[in-house]
Amino acid sequence: MVQKKPAWYEATIIKDMMGLMGGRALRGGMSHFISSRIYQGKASLLRVAHLLEATIDKEDRRALIITDLFTQKYAKYVTEYLEMIGMEYRIWTGVEPEVPISTIYEGAKICEEFKPQVLIAIGGGSVMDTTKMVMVKYEKPEVNIFMILPYFGSIGLRKKMKYFIAIPTTSGTGSEVTQIAVITDTDRDPPKKLEILSDEFCADITILFTDFVKDMPPFLTMATGLDAFSHAIGAFVSNWGSPFADAMNSTAIKEVIKYLPRAYKYGAKDIEAREHMQMAALMAGIGFGNTTPGIDHALGHSLGKIFNVHHGLSVGLFTIYSIMFQAQVTDRWKLLLPIFDIQEDSKSREELFKEFSQAIKDFITSLDAPVCVKDMKNPEITKEEYFEKLDLLTEYADDDAVALTSFRTMSKKLFRTIFEYAWDGKDIDF
Ligand SMILES: [Fe+2]
Repeated sequence: MVQKKPAWYEATIIKDMMGLMGGRALRGGMSHFISSRIYQGKASLLRVAHLLEATIDKEDRRALIITDLFTQKYAKYVTEYLEMIGMEYRIWTGVEPEVPISTIYEGAKICEEFKPQVLIAIGGGSVMDTTKMVMVKYEKPEVNIFMILPYFGSIGLRKKMKYFIAIPTTSGTGSEVTQIAVITDTDRDPPKKLEILSDEFCADITILFTDFVKDMPPFLTMATGLDAFSHAIGAFVSNWGSPFADAMNSTAIKEVIKYLPRAYKYGAKDIEAREHMQMAALMAGIGFGNTTPGIDHALGHSLGKIFNVHHGLSVGLFTIYSIMFQAQVTDRWKLLLPIFDIQEDSKSREELFKEFSQAIKDFITSLDAPVCVKDMKNPEITKEEYFEKLDLLTEYADDDAVALTSFRTMSKKLFRTIFEYAWDGKDIDF
């Protein structure tokens, strides 16, 4: 069955153009460093509350808290401060995992009735991404979300509302500081992930509260942490780097390696590790948001959607293949050797890369996460079903926006072979 492909980046001409430019066509002669105002710590809400009080007239003080059934428990810490400044609020808990498009319209409808000046997202990546899209449909209902062009187009948001405040309850997606929203096109069978990008999606204010992430269960800690790891390392080895993005990404990698194993093992008992992981995920968010993630995200989005695998686990699995694939044409990975305590000495490039890739695999497996599909436990995938779905896996990865920004031009054939190698962990040799 031929499926409808509504997103602009799925058009063949766009893929060809990006291929010709080595993944850089959209960037052209411009680079950007976009981020939120960032506050961390217990006094942050007081400071932000004062800002809202000073900049929004009393009669306009309305905030919509966007959250889900699991993270709504944190809303009360925020509403206390809203009450303090006389801000009317509503709490909408309708966010669903992976952002099915229908939920965006539901949120926008509430905005249309309540007319908030502030949207406060409290939750993980899906809550952040839903808020970004609700903001679009509230402000500009006429906009076709599949045709929002990053880098050169502006939507014209924040005419009806003033602030988008992001308060994450996981440490991984970086969505609290990125210009990216990942949503699910439920009209396709199986549903497909779509990435929508705009500078205007970046939250105006990001608040990091360690209390909101400290009770994450071990699996979520590990999977979201691997998402941050894959953002930072995938972006670092890409050709979109800049000293600014490199600083964010290399520090994030260093922090994740040191603190993710502790956060995974000790959970709420190790607050220092939780704090560092919050900041590492945010830095990786700025790092990849201002460059591009690795093709692990194209591969991982596809596997995740087709076999219902957690995003972080899925992209974590493909991280090593993405690096091995790009390392065929770049030496940027060498700059990361000190982080992994690898001495160059007089080793050959081949020996060094073997050591480097083994260090990454060891790090991922030390967290009980898989580096090949056949070792996956959550869910288990049989060889038959994996290879039976190979065409669809390939098609979804090739149609992913991330595939466009790879500096090695991607093709269905390349994606297919990487999927084949990833079944039992074969090293990429092409
Ligand atoms: Fe991600």
